[in-house]
Amino acid sequence: MGRIVIAYSGGLDTSVAVPWLAERYGAEIVAVTMDLGQGAELEEVRDRALASGAIRAHVLDVREEFARDFVLRALKADALYEDRYPLATALARPLIAQKLIEIAEIEQATAVAHGCSGKGNDQVRLEVTARALNSSIRIIAPAREWGMSRAEEIEYARQRNVPVPATVESPYSTDFNLWGRAVDCGALEDPWHEPPEDIYTLTKSPRECPDEPAYVEVSFERGVPTAINGVAMPMLDLIASLGTIAGANGVGRIDLIENRLVGIKSREVYEAPAAVVLHAAHEELQRLVTTADLDRLCRDISQKYADLVYNGLWFTPTREAMDAFVDTVQERVTGVIRLKLFKGDCRIVGRKSPFGLYDQSLATHDAGDMFDHAATAGFIKIWGLPVESTAKKAPKKRKSLVVSR
Ligand code: ARG
Repeated sequence: MGRIVIAYSGGLDTSVAVPWLAERYGAEIVAVTMDLGQGAELEEVRDRALASGAIRAHVLDVREEFARDFVLRALKADALYEDRYPLATALARPLIAQKLIEIAEIEQATAVAHGCSGKGNDQVRLEVTARALNSSIRIIAPAREWGMSRAEEIEYARQRNVPVPATVESPYSTDFNLWGRAVDCGALEDPWHEPPEDIYTLTKSPRECPDEPAYVEVSFERGVPTAINGVAMPMLDLIASLGTIAGANGVGRIDLIENRLVGIKSREVYEAPAAVVLHAAHEELQRLVTTADLDRLCRDISQKYADLVYNGLWFTPTREAMDAFVDTVQERVTGVIRLKLFKGDCRIVGRKSPFGLYDQSLATHDAGDMFDHAATAGFIKIWGLPVESTAKKAPKKRKSLVVSR
């Protein structure tokens, strides 16, 4: 096999995969590493890829693209998997696979590779996406094939002088990008065990948070968050600064037993301070500007959208059709949401929009009430008509419904 392009994170699995693929397939290995806002030193990662035996190592800054084309769409759709997880890892995978295929085409590679194990969702997302974009390129998953334990991987690396990353000491498995962090394995595998404080890096413990709440105002234009406290900022800066404020007030921790696509339940701990605040704010603003029936329809779509992202079906007409629906709704999602962040709690305390359907003169119980009270008498008469009719024609209740055995 000529050339294999690998999605290279710099962790143990992908570092071992470079020499393993080269030996097993007699191929040249090209590494691709993406900056998704994980804050790693990507120059170091590139050097490690080359030291592991890659013939070339590409580093791509895809943060803007990730925020604009993936994160923002999920935010507009209010997509939270199983009502809680903002999908940071899941949203990044179709982009990673897309770039991998692009580089594979440029490099004229015959295969792409990734470091996922055989138990997670990410292998599915990466491979389904790769096949959607170029089904003639082969996909190889070394960590699914080689059957090495962690200790054996480290030994394999030492024998070949492959630098072993310092992070191998951690008992946890983590994934991190600008939309959030996921942590699992280690002590977290016991769902009864409270997550230890030291797994968190983006959020303060409520115990250590300020004793005064922080207020933030998030402005949206057509569903896009555009400013914090009146200061306009591009999406990346907005996510970063909101993440800082929310994290400092302990907001954004999620401890979830979730249903994996591969059929098992897993316990995952997430930290997503900016995502939690933005989702709360967006959902609230959308609720303010939509009628009851549209709001309910949006919620149905939100759940479907989240499932689709989680299950690796990003590059499909279904997602595009849902985006079209969502964008139609966003035309009115303009306004400001005011939130109060306090010791881990994130609460909406104010909302306003030029398209808001809340009308105080209709809602008030005080002077200035414009609601037509008399009109409801006729409304109730018609509304209750079928209820009255069916009640009148109700069959007699049986004395006992207990079936004797
Ligand atoms: N369960 C999440 C998902 O499937 C996160 C997966 C990555 N988690 C990790 N700890 N490495 O999207």
